[in-house]
Amino acid sequence: MQRLKIEGGHRLCGELEIQGAKNSVLPILSACVLTGDEVRLNRCPPLSDVYAAMRILSCLGCKCKRDGTSVIVDTAVLDKNVISDALMRRMRSSIIFLGALLGSVGECTLSFPGGCELGPRPIDLHLSALRQLGAQIDEAHGRLICSCPKGLKGTLINLSFPSVGATENVMLAAVTAKGETVISNAAREPEICDLAEFLNRCGAKISGAGSSRIKIKGVPRSQLHGCEFDIMPDRIATVTYMCAAAITGGEAKLKGARSCDIEAVINLLRQSGCSVYECCDGLYISSSKGLKAVRSVRTQPYPGFPTDAQAIVMACMTRAQGTGIFVEDIFENRFRHVDELVRMGADIKTEGRVAVVSGVSSLSGANVVAPDLRGGAALCVAACAAQGETLISNVELIDRGYDSIECALARLGVKAERKV
Ligand code: EPZ
Repeated sequence: MQRLKIEGGHRLCGELEIQGAKNSVLPILSACVLTGDEVRLNRCPPLSDVYAAMRILSCLGCKCKRDGTSVIVDTAVLDKNVISDALMRRMRSSIIFLGALLGSVGECTLSFPGGCELGPRPIDLHLSALRQLGAQIDEAHGRLICSCPKGLKGTLINLSFPSVGATENVMLAAVTAKGETVISNAAREPEICDLAEFLNRCGAKISGAGSSRIKIKGVPRSQLHGCEFDIMPDRIATVTYMCAAAITGGEAKLKGARSCDIEAVINLLRQSGCSVYECCDGLYISSSKGLKAVRSVRTQPYPGFPTDAQAIVMACMTRAQGTGIFVEDIFENRFRHVDELVRMGADIKTEGRVAVVSGVSSLSGANVVAPDLRGGAALCVAACAAQGETLISNVELIDRGYDSIECALARLGVKAERKV
């Protein structure tokens, strides 16, 4: 079992290149099957979830290889359309292959996806939207047997919630559907824009990504082709390293980071006393005055405060002066990091979807367990400021989304290492 050892209590200072975004590269890897051609994805982080998506592509018959920081996918041969239960369970994003396979080969068999345990994570919106496009999806023995006997036909799809995954699945299936598809109440996350930009680069006709109304004009699959594409910088990794700097009263330059994707978090860090500047090649944060609690943080779909940043910013606020409230409105059970932070000396009380965080003057290193990906990142942030040594187990959950978090922290001056 691997563990992370972090020796905390030191002011962090350094410079780091921000990795490509996990939540952008995963749907884009699925989207490659639409092109029937070679795609080169640059700034593709070596994450376990990325390897899981590459494994799915290989099992479908496609060729996939890593070339330095890029991944090259060739989907000219796509001669299978079944994804095993074991592969589907590896991550939530496996379900995005559903829309991509319906849009490319018109049929597939797969099962319900896995992913971090954050409470119930149904896929009802995905299935209902794809059915509205003409997909026939039969559920039997935990498997989803999917086809489109009359082809897919564009229509108006009104999502009852702006689900990121459902928006991606509809976009992928609609790229080759007959006629025009309009998604209303679509997710507006930056990763949706990245997917639309990638698909348009491959010959799709998508407009409105980033707004809540996305239009997709169907094109014949033969008009789609490969391309070279740079994956956007990871906004949640950016927030993680900003918070690590903030909690230690330190400073960091995050190369390649984009402020426009994380305005809600930057506003909050500024309110709590940090200085955050955009510089020519990224973002700079410094926090020398000590943090002040921010009265309330409520997670919302983009452009609201991201649920993926909730645990990480909460870890940072455990050391702020005063009391603040966090309300988790996206997932039912996304406070599993709280008990671990309390082991490190944090003062946090939860009731349902509300957590009350009262700042403490110091945290202490402890043996803790990463409860999920972002909860694990939150423990790393707290460990940077905690006195003494923190040992974090369940590192494989953190590896799903961070490219060697211990090396990134070490680049910022933290004494961090992986113990195998
Ligand atoms: C994406 O998950 C991200 N994952 C998550 O990041 C992120 O937390 C989430 O969006 C919200 O921003 C990827 O992009 C791979 P949703 P997704 O569909 O698509 C409910 C991380 O740490 N819902 O927008 O699964 C659902 O239960 C991960 O990087 C339905 O009810 O999120 C949840 O309460 C974790 N029915 C809410 O919507 C559905 O059919 C948001 O889910 C779909 C969703």
